[in-house]
Amino acid sequence: MSSSQQPDLIVEGLRVAVEGKEILKGLSLEVRKGEIHAIMGPNGSGKSTFANTLMGHPRYEVTAGDIRFEGESVLEWETDDRARRGLFMAFQYPVAIPGVSVANFLRAALNARLAPSATTGDGKVPQRRGMPPKEFRALLREKMALLKMDDSFATRYLNDGFSGGEKKRAEILQMALLKPRIAIMDETDSGLDIDALKVVSDGVNALAGPDLGVLVITHYNRILNYIKPDFVHVMLDGRIVRSGGPELAVELESRGYDWLREPAEVGTP
Ligand SMILES: Nc1ncnc2c1ncn2[C@@H]1O[C@H](COP(=O)(O)OP(=O)(O)OP(=O)(O)O)[C@@H](O)[C@H]1O
Ligand SMILES: [Mg+2]
Repeated sequence: MSSSQQPDLIVEGLRVAVEGKEILKGLSLEVRKGEIHAIMGPNGSGKSTFANTLMGHPRYEVTAGDIRFEGESVLEWETDDRARRGLFMAFQYPVAIPGVSVANFLRAALNARLAPSATTGDGKVPQRRGMPPKEFRALLREKMALLKMDDSFATRYLNDGFSGGEKKRAEILQMALLKPRIAIMDETDSGLDIDALKVVSDGVNALAGPDLGVLVITHYNRILNYIKPDFVHVMLDGRIVRSGGPELAVELESRGYDWLREPAEVGTP
């Protein structure tokens, strides 16, 4: 099936607080597999808060609303369960893990994804069944070839001394292996050079398809010159205040965000 009637990810009236302060103030969004959505908005509007909340970061408290993924509320699911079910997030600031190679990290991540869920199964202790090393190496090689990556990349320590572009490469490779159903890319724009931007966009374009829904979070429409979103959403002060097609990103580039703010917020005497 290429696209389903029912959206795969439904976010409804989401309110989220961090350390007692409300950051998301009633956010609603629907994503179907096969669609690419861009979320844009100024610094501090709540974009990363939304991404972290989708993944179940314990610091973000959902005070109202719901997140449903393939028909089920995910709010009670731990982060690893969300990942196992097919939610994936590429970090704005990925951490370095000296001593752990890219290949070993990816193998651990893949085996965790393949393992049966701890909290949604029949209550039995989950069994660890991993992919045999040989099979894993073949899969890794295949995905690296798809993403035009050099074999030597797999033996380097994860993110240790990586350039911005290489960090992005590692994340895209992880996404290629884990085959998520919904991928959230939280992109920082400062410090992302054209090389890194290209890596992210080429990767997303290579992996996009009827089985993957993508949410790209960004400030500027630079990245959207390479990734063609089906929908563009503007986030302001914890809410989506406008949704449209790619033309909305172009409009934001020339007009900024102020015209979308509540009248009471602009030009207060
Ligand atoms: N862990 C946290 N502790 C305290 N405050 C937080 C935390 N996470 C987010 N906030 C606050 O929530 C607001 C929204 O931050 P968030 O990082 O979600 O914005 P953003 O839209 O991703 O910004 P940027 O474009 O700079 O990445 C900010 O005021 C921020 O200080
Ligand atoms: Mg952010």
